Amino acid sequence: MKERIFIKDENETKSFGIGLAGKLKAGDVIALIGELGTGKTALTKYIACGLGALEEVTSPTFTIINEYKSGRLPLYHFDVYRISREEEMYELGYEEYFDSGGVTVIEWADKIASLIPPGSVVIQISYGSEESERIYDVYFSV
Ligand SMILES: Nc1ncnc2c1ncn2[C@@H]1O[C@H](COP(=O)(O)OP(=O)(O)OP(=O)(O)O)[C@@H](O)[C@H]1O
Ligand SMILES: [Mg+2]
Repeated sequence: MKERIFIKDENETKSFGIGLAGKLKAGDVIALIGELGTGKTALTKYIACGLGALEEVTSPTFTIINEYKSGRLPLYHFDVYRISREEEMYELGYEEYFDSGGVTVIEWADKIASLIPPGSVVIQISYGSEESERIYDVYFSV
């Protein structure tokens, strides 16, 4: 089942992210899919905030993984934009992050589609008609 959520501005992204963070439990994986600038990092920042993480959230475009450990649950923030082969994910030891008792958020999850665990929360983000509008299609991966 897909749920479509209309986001009017970044404040609504913030409310959504904080609300989602409140429901997360250890081992949850959130797969973010969406073009450049749709707000994948922004949403991750608000999820981190909702988990109570105090660290500044920055895009892990070059490092692939950032870890934020000061919140209610550890948050592993992946940006797999620069991954060109799924084997690179094995080299990073991605499975240990997914299974480690924290929460994992993956930007550009469609690049590693076959590695996304079943039951992950997929959030497909697209642009709305106004500059700050976004459309979230949310569903569980199979
Ligand atoms: N409703 C909104 N939700 C999230 N971000 C928004 C919204 N409206 C405007 N923005 C702005 O859009 C930009 C989103 O940038 P962000 O880096 O989060 O995107 P991204 O999807 O992570 O991009 P990339 O593909 O480069 O990783 C920010 O500058 C943010 O302030
Ligand atoms: Mg980003």
